Amino acid sequence: MNDWIEIGALNDIPRRGARCVMTPQGKIAVFRTMEDQVFAIDDHCPHKGGPLSQGIVHGASVTCPLHNWVISFETGKALGADEGSVKTIAIKRDGERIFALLERTAVAAE
Ligand code: FES
Repeated sequence: MNDWIEIGALNDIPRRGARCVMTPQGKIAVFRTMEDQVFAIDDHCPHKGGPLSQGIVHGASVTCPLHNWVISFETGKALGADEGSVKTIAIKRDGERIFALLERTAVAAE
């Protein structure tokens, strides 16, 4: 089941930068745009797995640092002639606090 899980604060992420967060579903990259919008996508480029969190943010997309594919934060899809996509993770904000819609790990203790 998915739940809104707090993953940090807006000021933890530089404008036009990113921060990685480990989740039960793997590493996600959380980006902050120049306009303080926050997006989260898988940190692995659909081309050859480049670290998107180290890419250059422009508008609502990021350019992969390895071979310059451009990935949309909104759709997770590669833009232009390239084909591929990454998983997007829903984000909501409550003031400074950032929440991601993630699977809550079941606690199996009895
Ligand atoms: S690994 Fe991202 S463009 Fe090649």
